[in-house]
Amino acid sequence: MSLQENIQHNLGALLQQQQRLKIEYLINYKTLLKTISKNDSDVMKGLTQIPKSIPMHYRYDDRGSQLFEKICELPEYYLTRTETGILQQCASEIARITGACEIVELGSGNAVKTRILLDAYNQLGSSLRYLPIDISAGILQSSALDLLNDYPSLQVHAFAGTFELALEKLPPSRLPSRMISFIGSTLSGFDSEQADKLISQVATALQSGEYFLLGIDLHKSKKQLEAAYNDAQGVNAEFNFNILKHLNSKFVGNFETSNFEHVVTYNESLHQIEVYLRSCQKQKAYLRGINLNIAIEAGELIVTGIARKFELSSMEEKLRLFGLEMLKLWTDANQWYALLLCQRQ
Ligand SMILES: C[S@@+](CC[C@H](N)C(=O)[O-])C[C@H]1O[C@@H](n2cnc3c(N)ncnc32)[C@H](O)[C@@H]1O
Repeated sequence: MSLQENIQHNLGALLQQQQRLKIEYLINYKTLLKTISKNDSDVMKGLTQIPKSIPMHYRYDDRGSQLFEKICELPEYYLTRTETGILQQCASEIARITGACEIVELGSGNAVKTRILLDAYNQLGSSLRYLPIDISAGILQSSALDLLNDYPSLQVHAFAGTFELALEKLPPSRLPSRMISFIGSTLSGFDSEQADKLISQVATALQSGEYFLLGIDLHKSKKQLEAAYNDAQGVNAEFNFNILKHLNSKFVGNFETSNFEHVVTYNESLHQIEVYLRSCQKQKAYLRGINLNIAIEAGELIVTGIARKFELSSMEEKLRLFGLEMLKLWTDANQWYALLLCQRQ
C-alpha cells in the first residue's frame, strides 16, 4: 500500500469508528465548582464530618485507574482472576438466556472482562450495543476505542459520569432487551443505604423481563481479605495516597501524602474491609478550589473506602425486594466470588 493509500485507509477506519462511537460527558468541571460553592459538594461534606471521609469515586482519576489495573494483577488480589474464571464458564449461557441485547455496564474500567461477554454474544451472532458508564473519563475513552477496533460491528454509547447521573440519562433500549452489568465487585464500595438507592435505580432502568448481572465478593478469612487490600508491593497503598493527589489536582489542594499511612482492617461484624489514611502528625491542609481548611489530628483516620463482603441468600433477598429475581448463579470452586443473573419482574 502506498503512503497515500495507507493514510486514506486509516482515515476511513477512523471515520467509521467515530460513527460507531458516542460519548456523553455528564460532569462539567465548571458546573462542579459552581455546585461546590453552594457548600454541598461530596468532598466538602466528607471532610467536614467526623470521622472524616472521602467518597469512593475519587480513587479513579487517570492515575487511579492505572493503579487499579495493577491491583487486578497482584497475587493477593484474587477477585479479578476469580471473576474472570467464572465469566469464562458462564458467558455463553448468559448470552443464550438474554438473546440480542444492549449491555449497559456500570464501572466498565478497562473493560477487559467485558470482552468475554462480547465474544460470547458475537459467537451467537446476536446484535449488540454497549453502553459503558464510568467516572474515569480517560479509561472510558481508551477502552471504548480499543473495543471499536477489536469488534468491527460494535456500537458504543459511553457515559463519563457517576452511575446515578448516567442511569437517569439512559436512552430507551434500541434492541429487544437490555442487561445492566455490574461486575468487578464495585457494588461493595457503597454502604447499605447507597447500595439500596443504586439497585433501585438499576431496577427502574430495566423493563419487565430485562436483566441485571451482578458480581459480588463473598465472606472469607480476615487474613486473605486484608492481604488483598494491603499487598506486599504497596500498590494498594499507592492507590490510597493517589486519592489525596487527585483532590490536590482537582481542587488546588496541598495534602502532603507522606504525612499519611495506608491502613486496612477487616471489620468482621460488618463484613467489610475498611480502608483509611492515618495522619502521622497534627497537620493542616487547604483545598483552594472549594475554600476548605482541613485540620487533622495526629493519628486521626480518614475513611477512604469500604469493600463489603456479601452472603448469597441475603443478597438474593435484597434484590428480590427491588423486583430483581435471581435466575442463575455461578461461583468458583472455592466459593469466593459469585455472579448473579437476575430478571426484572
Ligand atoms: C472496582 S473498579 C471495576 C472495574 C472493572 N469493571 C473491573 O471489573 O475490573 C470500579 C470502576 O467503577 C468506576 N466507578 C467507581 N465509582 C463510580 C461512580 N460512583 N460512578 C461511576 N463510575 C464509578 C471506577 O472508575 C472504576 O473504573
